[in-house]
Amino acid sequence: MGERPGTDRRFEIVPSVLPADFAKLGEACVALEEAGVDRIQFDIMDGRFVPNLTFGPDVVAAVRPHVSVPFEAHLMVHEPAWLVERFVEAGCTTIILHAEANLHLHRALHVVLDAGANAGVALNPATPPEAIDFVLDLVSHVLVMTVNPGFGGQSYIATMEPKVAAIRRLVLDRGLDIDIEVDGGIHPGTVQGAARAGANLLVAGSGLFGDVAGLAHAVTELRDLAESTR
Ligand code: DX5
Repeated sequence: MGERPGTDRRFEIVPSVLPADFAKLGEACVALEEAGVDRIQFDIMDGRFVPNLTFGPDVVAAVRPHVSVPFEAHLMVHEPAWLVERFVEAGCTTIILHAEANLHLHRALHVVLDAGANAGVALNPATPPEAIDFVLDLVSHVLVMTVNPGFGGQSYIATMEPKVAAIRRLVLDRGLDIDIEVDGGIHPGTVQGAARAGANLLVAGSGLFGDVAGLAHAVTELRDLAESTR
């Protein structure tokens, strides 16, 4: 066990395809897999829970046959339970719901589990860890948003690091096998802070697609920087 709780967990580099050229989304996912990413996150936005609108399960299904890495759907959607099965059928093995978007979060997470997927729960920056106290037994990972959701390319909110650390301690104290994911503003200048706090799933969009040295360089650099914190 590393000197920081939870640092013995495997780091995963998880691209968000939000900055990709949506006209060539399949090619972008093939390039991400070739660059060595561990899974791909699809940011699903409904224009209500967040002030942006992206795409639905049919787009994810179209990409699925072209790559083999696991897919996760980050549902930034108001009351998304009705969509869960569609994203599982589209090929997502993990479905992430926002604590703030589900009036009956416990029931909604059971919808994910009943559909045969892993359940993740996401917290917006203002939402405290206590909001997920009574659903931690249902999830395989907790997503701590390090930006306010809706757009890529925003600045990392470093004040989320104590929240990451608190959730990591909570998970360890309860002996739960839960990964902690961070999403938003993750790049070479911020990834070590997030990793030191206890995150091991590292979502990056612009931090990967914006690397002039290419995706493979970006993935390797993020992974090496995270591993350097052990
Ligand atoms: C926000 C999105 C973004 C995206 C990553 O709703 O979830 O966080 O995944 O964007 P970057 O890495 O560009 O901040």
